[in-house]
Amino acid sequence: MKIGILTAGGDCPGLNAAIRGVGKAAVLTYGMDVYGISSGFLGMIELEYRSLSELDLSGILTLGGTILGTSREKPFKDQSYGEYIRSKPDIILDNYKKLGLDCLVCIGGNGTMKTASKLSDYGLNIIGIPKTIDNDVWGTELSFGFDSAMMVATEALDRIHTTANSHKRIMVIEVMGHHAGWLALYSGIAGGGDLILIPEIPYDESVMCDYLTERNRQGKPYSIVVVAEGIDFPKKKKKKKSAANYIAKMIQEETGMPTRETILGYIQRGGSPTAADRILATRFGAQAADFASRGEFGVMVALHDQHVEAVPLSEVAGKLKLVPGDLPLLRKARALGTCFGDTLS
Ligand code: F6P
Repeated sequence: MKIGILTAGGDCPGLNAAIRGVGKAAVLTYGMDVYGISSGFLGMIELEYRSLSELDLSGILTLGGTILGTSREKPFKDQSYGEYIRSKPDIILDNYKKLGLDCLVCIGGNGTMKTASKLSDYGLNIIGIPKTIDNDVWGTELSFGFDSAMMVATEALDRIHTTANSHKRIMVIEVMGHHAGWLALYSGIAGGGDLILIPEIPYDESVMCDYLTERNRQGKPYSIVVVAEGIDFPKKKKKKKSAANYIAKMIQEETGMPTRETILGYIQRGGSPTAADRILATRFGAQAADFASRGEFGVMVALHDQHVEAVPLSEVAGKLKLVPGDLPLLRKARALGTCFGDTLS
């Protein structure tokens, strides 16, 4: 049996652990031939690949990024390809056959799962593996990459605390997460954020400013405000300002307290995966090889109640896992006085 592996979408820690998990199990346990496809779906269009031996998969567990490269190529979105008459999905199908693949393992986030599901409908044998720092892939309790990004953001918040304290400032820190607030919420709580803004909870500027002013009155001269990049704010559509920039300016103007902003950006996606992400990526990878050996296609591996299971790709595609309003962690954080911008605590 021949399987291909690709990594698509934004990179994150744990991709190499997942490639290794799929590849080693495929070679050592099931005797499969493994091909690494370059740069996500672009590699399937341009037929850029290499054969991966067990040796090629050694020594990559701890490496950040992806040895295969990645891209945000969406073959079903812009289907035309140069002067070629065939559509990109047709080219991918042809190349899949040319390579003699029996299965293509697609490691990625929401966009990748959508493409994976469409390719599955197109007749390819597909298995998806969820990765993302945003933790917003529907159908799995956790995606790898999230834990590592949470650690980076938490460490950044720890460091910013000392500066906030020394200068008696309000520090606004913008955390990634796309349309979801998981990363801001979890790192915000782990890093002791006083005010946490996430896209799922609409905020009220006067509630926020009253909260920060009251903290100051109580003798707490600095505050940490964690802002998810995906929150709504007046100038968002123009894409001129970041969420942190808007919120910091508004706080300083309304409260008169010195306020600074920091955008954590891509450092959240870089570097070596945490132990938890290495283990999750390894479990997901090995399970994908197992599904392939049993001919279980058109599925995404997913974590459910501590077990790795299969979820149909058709159920995952096009959905987003957002932070639910009744998440117990939200209630607990409110009980400790954390403000989410909607009510004072
Ligand atoms: O999905 C991961 C992510 O880092 C998001 O948190 C962020 O909004 C987006 O990717 C950034 O995308 P790009 O790498 O295209 O700038």
